[in-house]
Amino acid sequence: MYSDKVMEHFQNPRNVGEIEDADGVGTVGNPTCGDLMTIYIKVKDNIIEDIKFKTFGCGAAIATSSMVTEMAMGKTLDEAMEITRNDVAENLEGLPPVKMHCSNLAADALHAAIDNYREKKGEKVEGTHICSTCG
Ligand code: FES
Repeated sequence: MYSDKVMEHFQNPRNVGEIEDADGVGTVGNPTCGDLMTIYIKVKDNIIEDIKFKTFGCGAAIATSSMVTEMAMGKTLDEAMEITRNDVAENLEGLPPVKMHCSNLAADALHAAIDNYREKKGEKVEGTHICSTCG
């Protein structure tokens, strides 16, 4: 049912865990099955220099998490934002149709982590602005 690549990533997932001082964190849930995935990123000079994941889900969800972290590592934030659900599935040499929804979690969690990083950065910039009213 699963490709060798899916089985390999499921049995030997890359980048499992949590980054304590992550620059961005994204969590998404799958309403169909109730599974949850969190992705943590460290960003330097606009590049994802470290990425980890925690997934409470099926084997396909674990394999897609592992794959998306491999695909995003070392990429710029814009490049990582372009990784689609289909890219993840294709890199795993396909997923059974009934499991395609599992790959949604991985790409969505990655994008959520990047959004979170950008939001935090935005807040930081705002927090240091000099208000023309109060100086
Ligand atoms: Fe829930 Fe795959 S069955 S993510």
